[in-house]
Amino acid sequence: MGNIQAPRGTYDVLPQESAKWQEVERTINELCNLYQYKEIRTPVFEHTELFQRGVGDTTDIVQKEMYTFQDRGDRSLTLRPEGTASVVRSYVEHKLFGQPDQPVKLYYTGPMFRYERPQAGRMRQFVQFGVEAIGSKDPAIDAEVIALAMDVYKSSGLKSLRLVLNSLGDTESRLAHKQALIEHFAPSIEEFCGDCQNRLEKNPLRILDCKVDREHPLMATAPSLADYLNEESAAYFTQVKDYLDELGISYVVDPNLVRGLDYYNHTAFEIMSEAEGFGAITTLAGGGRYNGLVEDLGGPESPGIGFAMSIERLLLALEMEKVEIGQDQSLDAYVIAMDAASKKKAVSIVRDLRANGISADMDFTDRKMKAQMKSADRKKARFVIVIGESELESGKAAVKEMATRDQQEVPFGELAESIQKKKSLEE
Ligand code: HAM
Repeated sequence: MGNIQAPRGTYDVLPQESAKWQEVERTINELCNLYQYKEIRTPVFEHTELFQRGVGDTTDIVQKEMYTFQDRGDRSLTLRPEGTASVVRSYVEHKLFGQPDQPVKLYYTGPMFRYERPQAGRMRQFVQFGVEAIGSKDPAIDAEVIALAMDVYKSSGLKSLRLVLNSLGDTESRLAHKQALIEHFAPSIEEFCGDCQNRLEKNPLRILDCKVDREHPLMATAPSLADYLNEESAAYFTQVKDYLDELGISYVVDPNLVRGLDYYNHTAFEIMSEAEGFGAITTLAGGGRYNGLVEDLGGPESPGIGFAMSIERLLLALEMEKVEIGQDQSLDAYVIAMDAASKKKAVSIVRDLRANGISADMDFTDRKMKAQMKSADRKKARFVIVIGESELESGKAAVKEMATRDQQEVPFGELAESIQKKKSLEE
């Protein structure tokens, strides 16, 4: 039997990578605070029905990609494939619609699960950062949500971004368009794949998203939703664009942008990377408005909008644009003990330094002084503190500042203070 490996489509974030994750998470938390979105944490699994009703029975996600299982109580549960349905479930369950300040502005970061064919930027477990603003249909909040997504990328250092925008209209517009699509595809539907044949009556918009029949000539000539927007939907879209112009956020309108989830109406958007060498998948984030979802899940009319992005694709884009983030956390002091008696002292000095906010480390493998010195170098310690027989006798440690090679004797009790002082001089 070979060694056990992580399941296909999953991966480990090893220590040399985790600093990047932490920096991205810091950026997210800071920006969400600036924009006044509050964090919500929902369970990693939910009742399967939530996604069937929320995300939609005819979507690829629900039909092909969910990790669904029966638990020991014979309930059908599903590892969440996305966050919006869960957040809306929670908004309804906890009656957040009753809070005086609407919209309720929420964000989340956490693992999502989809049974997809893994490739660069597409995993079976991935981490989404997403936001949802629920309880307003002001086009200004659409612009705010989009601005926040763009800000996360810009603050992380990305430059080659493209915002793609579309309007899916309201129910009336969509029904008119749906009818036109059915009439367009129906006469030749036998030329399409089985999935598309099923989609024709239920959800013909999905046909436009089909990966199998992408090249079929009827795809290019399909009626565009843009031509079926009623007056109100068109006016709403204009206002969203006006607000984006006001914010100086540029975008391209793509009437073919339909998104792969059923709950959307009005504003739909994706943010793509234009970085060279990105491979086939260039969508960094996707989102849109979902005015009926809260009602579908049992709440009162509460229009919402949000987006989600995976941290994996953000990190991939940073790599492609050669932006470095998450430098190693620096080590302030490495304490070297020359013998067993000094080691006891070293242990308490390390503890004392840490208690004073100074990062400190020492050797735990009984190595010789020279090997410990090398460790201190590899860890890029700013100060090395050496304790041996004579230091124990004098009650003073030898403190060496690595950058300047400057060396000083400092009484044990004053080590923390002395290093703090030197640190603050440098900073
Ligand atoms: P989505 O387009 O399915 O939308 O996913 C949003 C983002 O999640 C994608 O743009 C991508 O960054 C990331 N993503 C999706 N699948 C994978 C995967 N297999 N591997 C890596 N990253 C992936 C939603 O999930 C909606 N809930 C977004 C939303 C929020 N709409 C309104 N509010």
